[in-house]
Amino acid sequence: MDTVTTLAAARERRAADRVAGKTVAFVPTMGSLHEGHLALVRRARELGDSVWVSIFVNPTQFGPGEDFERYPRDLARDAELLAGESVDVLFAPATGDMYPTPPRVTVGYSGLENVLCGASRPGHFAGVGLVVAKLFNIVEPQVAVFGQKDAQQALLIRRLVEDLSFDVRIEVAPIVREADGLAMSSRNAYLSPQERRAAGVLYRALEEAAEAIRNGERNPAEVERLLAGRIAGEPLADLDYASCVDREDLRRPAIIGRPVLLAVAARFGSTRLIDNLLIDPRGETT
Ligand code: PAF
Repeated sequence: MDTVTTLAAARERRAADRVAGKTVAFVPTMGSLHEGHLALVRRARELGDSVWVSIFVNPTQFGPGEDFERYPRDLARDAELLAGESVDVLFAPATGDMYPTPPRVTVGYSGLENVLCGASRPGHFAGVGLVVAKLFNIVEPQVAVFGQKDAQQALLIRRLVEDLSFDVRIEVAPIVREADGLAMSSRNAYLSPQERRAAGVLYRALEEAAEAIRNGERNPAEVERLLAGRIAGEPLADLDYASCVDREDLRRPAIIGRPVLLAVAARFGSTRLIDNLLIDPRGETT
């Protein structure tokens, strides 16, 4: 595995792949890798000849008071895991190289960035869009793999790619879960043992709501009440949102007739976790 840490070195390495006629499959990450990330890497391996992974804890997507400083960082361990997956290139730039000047450009998504996670994390998706656009311009991948766990992020990145005509295909890989259903996340490492146990409620609530839809519930407000009630029943969970929205426009439909995204966020102590299920009223769940 080659490790490149500057934009110039990344561009040089990318040129070598181009000369060799290799297609690049790219997995952008913030490091602190877990099985969920490794599943994205394995999917990338299926999609391209040269697999690139970036590790960059992007300051512009963290708000004041969020966990930018304490976000877990262990580049040596991450590099070992990636080498074990036969990754071709690890791109781990320094903040000063990615942002030599404070960014003057912002990315907006016509309001989609202000709902769900965006409602309690103002500016978050602007920062994500900015860094993903920069990474795409540096790495120039043919395909990029993102996780379904960050469903809103995946949707907004698709919009970014379409509206700015990036020549990259976006692939979204399924959520990888722990034995009790908890979605894998770098932030799970912050949880105390009690919080970790309590966090299983998110998936249980999603499953119950999905089951209600499978059994014929078509009122999204009722589904949201069910989700919220189940999560509120866990004393260690502090609910942020529990939503049943159209998977394309993230609005609550009048009635559930098309595939919907069941999306939840809650705090366990100081740790904010998210999870979701995509459900087709005709029975399919992912
Ligand atoms: O999903 C993440 O880890 C980050 O939001 C991303 C896409 C790497 C951008 O910093």
